[in-house]
Amino acid sequence: MKKILHILRRRSAEEKPYWEDFSYETQDAGATVATALSSLHAENRVCASKEEFRPVMWEHSCLQKRCGACAMVINRVPALACDTRLSELRGDIVQLEPLKKFPVIEDLLVDRSVMMQNLKDLSVWLEGEAKSGPEDMAFEASRCLQCGICLEVCPNFAPGGSFAGMAGMAPLSRLIARLPGEQRGRVSRAYIKGVYEGCGKSLSCRDVCPADIQIDELLVKSNAAAVWKRWNSIR
Ligand code: SF4
Ligand code: FES
Repeated sequence: MKKILHILRRRSAEEKPYWEDFSYETQDAGATVATALSSLHAENRVCASKEEFRPVMWEHSCLQKRCGACAMVINRVPALACDTRLSELRGDIVQLEPLKKFPVIEDLLVDRSVMMQNLKDLSVWLEGEAKSGPEDMAFEASRCLQCGICLEVCPNFAPGGSFAGMAGMAPLSRLIARLPGEQRGRVSRAYIKGVYEGCGKSLSCRDVCPADIQIDELLVKSNAAAVWKRWNSIR
């Protein structure tokens, strides 16, 4: 299998972006975008470039679809590099761009600290002991990778705004599921301000979430518990 990696590169946030192509050839039918990117660091595969070779910067950790670090835009769709097989991408060109809702640090590497800041602003932590709630909802919410892919396609999310997107919704939903109703007040208020009031229910996030979180179901249950206080009727 032969592919051309067509990568939007940038030396720093201040410099102008430019496209650069790299060839990649493998016999491995299971090779992913992450496999190809890793190989660029081992071998200089520049096709045609006016630039001196510079390693392509991107972020990864687990390479097993567990950490969310390798999120980027692949052929115009936000996805995880380690979960995108080259054989499943149409054509010879694989276009790679950084996520667009976050500041670019270099190449495909972005600064997603706004997501952590949102969680801090929403105080997503327990102040007391957790008790068990509906385990299905807590489990579903706990699968969030904090990758930010949902924010990329969300028409309502903008960095610095009060809407935290589904990346903020999932940890809040997990807390809501863990807390008994009488202790849910602070978290419910954060949920209403950071999620409920900003979500336009386009649900584009559901279609791209690499963890396949049932976002619509989680949203309905969290709205019922945090906004309408109808916890028992939805269990
Ligand atoms: S909800 Fe899905 S897409 Fe959004 S941050 Fe969590 S895992 Fe990523
Ligand atoms: S490197 Fe962890 S999800 Fe891709």
